[in-house]
Amino acid sequence: MSGTGVDEYHPGLEGVIANETAIANIEGKDGAGGLEYRGYRIEELAEGVSYEETAFLLLHGDLPNRVQLAEFDQRLKAARAIPDALVKLFKEIPAHVHPMDSLRTAVSVLAHFDPEVDASPTDHAANVRKSERLIAQMATAVAYRERIRKGLPLVVPRDDLDHSANFLSMVSGKVPSETMWGAFDLSMVLYTEHELNASTFSARVTASTLSDLHSAIVAAIGTLKGSLHGGANEEAWKVLEQVGAPENAERWIHDALARKERIMGFGHRVYKHGDPRAAILKRSCAALAKEIGDDRWERIAEPIEREVTTKKMLPPNVDWPSARLYHYMGLEIDLYTPIFAMARIAGWAAHVIEQLDHNRLMRPRARYIGPPLRQVRPLAER
Ligand code: ACO
Repeated sequence: MSGTGVDEYHPGLEGVIANETAIANIEGKDGAGGLEYRGYRIEELAEGVSYEETAFLLLHGDLPNRVQLAEFDQRLKAARAIPDALVKLFKEIPAHVHPMDSLRTAVSVLAHFDPEVDASPTDHAANVRKSERLIAQMATAVAYRERIRKGLPLVVPRDDLDHSANFLSMVSGKVPSETMWGAFDLSMVLYTEHELNASTFSARVTASTLSDLHSAIVAAIGTLKGSLHGGANEEAWKVLEQVGAPENAERWIHDALARKERIMGFGHRVYKHGDPRAAILKRSCAALAKEIGDDRWERIAEPIEREVTTKKMLPPNVDWPSARLYHYMGLEIDLYTPIFAMARIAGWAAHVIEQLDHNRLMRPRARYIGPPLRQVRPLAER
């Protein structure tokens, strides 16, 4: 391969197979597009598998039995506390800093306090333990920073609540309703993993240099933040707000497309005929809107969806329904992407471990399009 292959250029790496993975499959039946986590269809997982079961599946290879789940649950609960030094730092970081940036900082700080910080990067068992700790700690970090930036007292983790209910309780100080808890947990399951998306690729590239797991997750968080990737759920909410009423949708979309703007929450590099996660989550949006007795945003979302799908042939992706879902839960807009990261940590970690278990340095090539070979002239002659 050395010295060849530079002619095969795929902008945005579209269609390039850069890895083999046993974690997720997004090919679907006959390549029609679908989503499976370790061989289980997302539709089936969404029916009744919790975030904890999903995270276990990704990290350990199969769904847990009762004993495995209880032990996993205990390990997560035991790891929920975050170091005082991080809480102190959260108080120093200016309130205007985006929660995605403070989460990136948090994971970096958590690395310094991890009991296995000096473990070899290729120690599989240590990486699994680090991943489990990060799953628990990232939720606490997001919730604590949220309370601190609002000047509110911290709500400590509750052992009687599962991962999702505990997170919502730490953010709001209230135990969520059954519908809210179920919808949030479902969104976490849907966000947990998605093959070689940009942030996962980023994590794997970092791991491939034999860097450590926390460094790979920091890289992934930075990559997820952008509005073409995870940041789209925050931008999708802004679309809904700007449209403001169902009758404005047609004109708004027409004008935005005429200005060649991207409609956030629509389109996908791989799913050209629809993102299965969006269809699943849309049902939860309707249920939650009904529970809170306000279907205004559902009525606004519907014509936008219709317009973009018919005018641009772009179906919604998972970020489109998740924006309204999190709004119904009373969560701040800039928490939407950190929540995505809090869920995706399990997928990222599984990929980092898979990469380190079968590592080869990722080092692609670039096609050179700069000036031809030339000579350096002495400074006085330039
Ligand atoms: N709105 C308007 N036009 C769009 C959109 C959109 N949401 N998505 C793609 N297009 C158009 C582009 O403008 C481009 O048009 P052109 O050929 O006339 O210039 C064409 O479709 C192809 O665009 P690419 O960016 O090359 O296509 P790609 O397949 O790489 O796009 C992407 C994937 C980046 C997700 C894109 O659909 C997009 O920007 N969507 C909005 C952001 C978004 O929702 N991101 C979340 C993705 S899912 C996730 O991360 C969980």
